[in-house]
Amino acid sequence: MSKRLKAFLLFFFVIAQFTNCEAQKKTIDQKVDSVLKLMTLEEKAGQLNQYSGDWISTGPITNDGDKQNQIRKGQLGSMLNIMGVKHTRQLQAMAMESRLRIPLLFGQDVIHGYKTTFPIPLAEAASWDLNAIELSARIAATEASAAGIHWTFAPMVDIARDPRWGRVMEGAGEDPYLGSLIAKARVKGFQGKGLGNTDAVMACAKHFAAYGAAVGGRDYNSVDMSLRQLHEFYLPPFRAAAEAGAATFMNSFNDLNGIPATGNSYLQRDILKGQWKFKGFVVSDWGSIGEMIRHGFVKNNYEAALSAIRAGSDMDMESRSYKDYLTKLVKEGKVPASLVDDAVKRILRKKIELGLFDDPYRFCNDEREKGALNNPEHVKAAREVAAKSIVLLKNGNNLLPLSKNTKKIAFIGPLVKEVKQNLGFWSIEMPDDSSYIVSQWQGLVKKMRSADLLYARGCGIEDTSRDGFAEAVAVAQKADVVIMSIGERRDMSGEAKSRSNIHLPGVQEELVKAIHATGKPVVVLINAGRPLIFDWITDNVPAILYTWWLGSEAGNAIADVLFGDYNPSAKLPMSFPRTEGQIPIYYNYFNTGRPATSDNDRFYRSAYIDLSIHPKYEFGYGLSYTTFQYSDLQLSKRKIRAREKIEVTMKLTNTGKYAGEEVVQLYLRDRVATVVRPVKELKDFQKVKLQPGESKNIRFIIDKEKLSFYNDKLQWITEPGDFDLMIGSSSADIRLKDVFELVK
Ligand code: NOJ
Repeated sequence: MSKRLKAFLLFFFVIAQFTNCEAQKKTIDQKVDSVLKLMTLEEKAGQLNQYSGDWISTGPITNDGDKQNQIRKGQLGSMLNIMGVKHTRQLQAMAMESRLRIPLLFGQDVIHGYKTTFPIPLAEAASWDLNAIELSARIAATEASAAGIHWTFAPMVDIARDPRWGRVMEGAGEDPYLGSLIAKARVKGFQGKGLGNTDAVMACAKHFAAYGAAVGGRDYNSVDMSLRQLHEFYLPPFRAAAEAGAATFMNSFNDLNGIPATGNSYLQRDILKGQWKFKGFVVSDWGSIGEMIRHGFVKNNYEAALSAIRAGSDMDMESRSYKDYLTKLVKEGKVPASLVDDAVKRILRKKIELGLFDDPYRFCNDEREKGALNNPEHVKAAREVAAKSIVLLKNGNNLLPLSKNTKKIAFIGPLVKEVKQNLGFWSIEMPDDSSYIVSQWQGLVKKMRSADLLYARGCGIEDTSRDGFAEAVAVAQKADVVIMSIGERRDMSGEAKSRSNIHLPGVQEELVKAIHATGKPVVVLINAGRPLIFDWITDNVPAILYTWWLGSEAGNAIADVLFGDYNPSAKLPMSFPRTEGQIPIYYNYFNTGRPATSDNDRFYRSAYIDLSIHPKYEFGYGLSYTTFQYSDLQLSKRKIRAREKIEVTMKLTNTGKYAGEEVVQLYLRDRVATVVRPVKELKDFQKVKLQPGESKNIRFIIDKEKLSFYNDKLQWITEPGDFDLMIGSSSADIRLKDVFELVK
């Protein structure tokens, strides 16, 4: 085929695809309009309501009225917390009795897996492995959609700089760049090849916006921040989710600069639906429309409904304000009918895209449900992603990996034999079945069948009693090596689980001290949904693995890492403070006029007199069983104009004994600008796998986007000047440096 013919055919193909897409869009618009035309005002208002089922509840249930009757009358658009094909089918059948037979949407908090439970999102973020994160969301969607679910309330993309906040476990940590890439990966994973495929669920980027910046780390608390801060640090992951095609957004409980997010037109109308041209719909958070009353923003549910619909909240989750007042508001002329129509159209469009108008039961297939929930491929992936999420914090004298020839191993601590704890918060549990969860003890037993394995609990998670210490010490004394599993309870992080004290609970640190005093080599596993403080352990115990909550394959993944079948490669997505007094703590701070160059500077210290300014473990930190050397940094140019690019190359060599992966991190600093810039900003990274002795050339491209920022007028611009380029193994462990200039 000649080149010209090929080019012509390609052009023809692209045009055909485009027209096809346009035609499809048009048909969907026409379908939406044709349904809308048939609807009464009451039915329209009905579409904008979402109630929880009574099987499980993820918020304070309002038990008013007969939900089933409302479904039959077409007064409900969606339900959440309905589990399984059997129940979704029953409810959908009720919707099919309604006048217009508009199908219901079933939503659920499928946050880190459905039956196959993956690591909590913060742990997955530590993998810095976007394919793994996308795969985890893909599998969650495959299982959830097979169980009748159309919509997950994930990903949570809130940036968080405060580990006291319980919901840090649900996000991707403190960095907007990493957070944006992860947001995109999760949306892609959930929505798969696109809505309309029966294995795709709608994603929901939440909580819009700035929920993670709640004052004092107290859940639901107020947020007051400059718009520049909002746009620069908190909104990028939301924007990335919108650009990746997230079908829905959820607004948030907090007020932002005095306006509750649910009633905030700037956020929902100006930014999301205006600037970002978001075509999906916005669901309120649980009861957040009605909660504007307690915020002191509106007097009653009537005003709450008025404020929320005006501000662009399309669906009311559980507050009943739309149900009770929307029709009245339209009839009184307070709310233009077009506003309600717009919200209804957005929701109908998604129902059509999901194919529910063609077949409302297309997600209700018992066989598919059974198969998807028992798929060995899913289990294998959960084990791999879990291993990738474990962070090696310390490895004195290369104690890890442990030899598979070790004869006597003691496994001590309150979490060793726990089963459900491994799932973490926001997990969906299969009723009456925990046989699919691999405990840490089972993982060890399977890996080390011929070793002599000893166990002692030592103490409970929050115990104040030391009664179990003596037995634990006696067990440790018999062993060649001791592994200890300690941490928080899984429900000490999550929604409404903020803590003012993020040290290890109870007497667990004392238990570690007692075991350490035996002189045996000790490996500590720390299970948690947030960065914890465990100074003594860091300073004294030779080996520490941060295991977060790893999901249903926790036990296997931990054993894989302990015995070297997987070489840890994770890096912290959040800074770990030394004490609560350092919070909020994050790596991308501004330099100030008196930067603390050392902890001892008398006047030049934007620091404390009683504490180092540095975190215990910094953003991007994490060790490997092998070592990596960074060398040969080269820049293709040292002066560029904004439309040009710099090619940055460097060599990475595995200088240790094990094959391993390194996350090579690229940071930039804009030295002088019309608004002060962070001392470092992550702008790129690559996760690279190398065999022992192997080297690879790594290439990064620096373009205008990486050099841009919001000025004080909220314009996204670049300014000429010098930039520091830093490449390293963490935000503090910078191995290569250079400078380049952006010229006019
Ligand atoms: C409240 C939480 O803030 C939100 O994230 C969740 O999706 C809803 N409850 C529904 O469970």
